[in-house]
Amino acid sequence: MSDKVKVAVLVSGGGTNLQALIDKEKSGELAESKIVRVIASKDTAYALQRAADAGIETSVAKTQEEVLRQLEECGAELVVLAGYMSVLAPEVIEKFRNRIINIHPSLIPKYCGKGFYGMRVHRAVIEAGEKESGATVHFVDEGVDTGKIILQETVPVMEGDSPEDLAARVLETEHRILAEGLNKVVLRYKQGGIK
Ligand code: GRF
Repeated sequence: MSDKVKVAVLVSGGGTNLQALIDKEKSGELAESKIVRVIASKDTAYALQRAADAGIETSVAKTQEEVLRQLEECGAELVVLAGYMSVLAPEVIEKFRNRIINIHPSLIPKYCGKGFYGMRVHRAVIEAGEKESGATVHFVDEGVDTGKIILQETVPVMEGDSPEDLAARVLETEHRILAEGLNKVVLRYKQGGIK
């Protein structure tokens, strides 16, 4: 693990995005990085079980001071928000400037920002009669879903889709592009491209 970039993953929910990263790390698709810690905003997050099953160190951080302390404690070089529902404190963002990435279930800048998360996103997309939606991997800055876009992929909205149908289709894309986006950032970080 010596030269692998250390990654911490922040979670709050079921952890399917985390599971995708774990699976791709195992299959060798994430060859230059290693998840060293999964930090949950609450102890009921099933993502913690997924991490434990994969032999990854876990912890719970209920305050942003705790998030910062635990990120430093595990030596994280990059941070991935995978279904993380708390707002990161400016101190955390400053400390990890341009080294935090997030996955959002829409084509940013559409259907993002305050109040647009989870099923609310897909409901709004369908109510607006959109023919396509998608997922976006982006850097995290002080805004909500406002950081520089790393990767984006469209997903079709089908006739008669329920928000749940669309959520499931978008989630499949999230799982794929989160790993691709992390790989891109890991390689840029290794080349010294992220200061
Ligand atoms: C998903 O809706 C995803 O779009 C968003 O967080 C939700 C839960 O993801 N990023 P996960 O299954 O906990 O990874």
